[in-house]
Amino acid sequence: MLNKLKQDAFKKIEEAKTLKEMEAFYRQYLGRKGELSRFLRSLGDFPEKERKEKGKLANQIKEELSKLIEKKKKEFQTSGFKVQSEDKLDITAPGLKLPQGHLHPMTLVQRKVEEIFQGMGFLVADGPEIETEYYNFNALNIPQNHPARDLWDTFWLKDAPLLLRTHTSPVQVRYMEKHSPALRIIVPGRCFRHEATDTTHEAVFHQVEGLMVDKDVSVGNFKAVIEGFLKQFFGPDTKMRLRPSYFPFVEPGFEIDIKRKQGDWLELMGAGMVHPNVFKSVGYKANRWQGFAFGFGLERLTMIKYGIDNIRLFFDNDLRFLKQF
Ligand code: PHE
Repeated sequence: MLNKLKQDAFKKIEEAKTLKEMEAFYRQYLGRKGELSRFLRSLGDFPEKERKEKGKLANQIKEELSKLIEKKKKEFQTSGFKVQSEDKLDITAPGLKLPQGHLHPMTLVQRKVEEIFQGMGFLVADGPEIETEYYNFNALNIPQNHPARDLWDTFWLKDAPLLLRTHTSPVQVRYMEKHSPALRIIVPGRCFRHEATDTTHEAVFHQVEGLMVDKDVSVGNFKAVIEGFLKQFFGPDTKMRLRPSYFPFVEPGFEIDIKRKQGDWLELMGAGMVHPNVFKSVGYKANRWQGFAFGFGLERLTMIKYGIDNIRLFFDNDLRFLKQF
């Protein structure tokens, strides 16, 4: 008897064509006066052993049926056309909501970064992803055979000396060649490194370069600009610190750490005062101009901001991840 009921019910529900039909079936089987509910109420009439078995089976069927009905109902509700065409057109029904895309978290963060720096008078510049050895290295005070080249594992192209830029710093040089000081730019862009990947490193990633050149630019100016940026980006309580470090194109060079909620310091960017040799290579008089430069990873910034622990999530295109932004 139970199995027959189950068969009938499943068949009818599968065949239902409208929401109304579905609702009728719901009442017929699962409603308060429905067949299954009545059966469950009559369980008391059976001897104990049978009661247990039958009760279990009936409850199981009830659960399966409810699930199926819910599923079918959703199908009807989302395919509005079926509901409307079968149950007559309801012109007062609200329109169907079409799924709409939105911006990728990295795009959101890049735009925010641009907005903050533009507020401090920086222009957004860009440059090519395929670079020459000259712009990526030599002009940045990294001559051939300089050991510092090992800092950047490089994808060399067949047509050497072309390469995929390992950082956005070559745009410093390109921009200064074409413009005279004073200047303030940021350069968001894609970079490439020929190195092993892990949860925080990808071979393809994004950096934001910063460059400010003027008559009297000091480390103090740099600190103010970067602190201003970090506070606007992460919040007014953000703490940062400068640590001495080395990059061939700056002197002195430092690294900037920020303090995480957990209390530890996290390395965020490289920076420093533009090296006189870089000014020389773009034809600026090194004793007349001063400047600072910095560069940070956009993925890293985004990961810290949103507490993301795996860089691969950004480009896996998994909607469960992307929909959260
Ligand atoms: N280009 C450096 C890197 O990719 C970062 C940097 C930029 C350091 C500007 C100093 C000044 O590691």
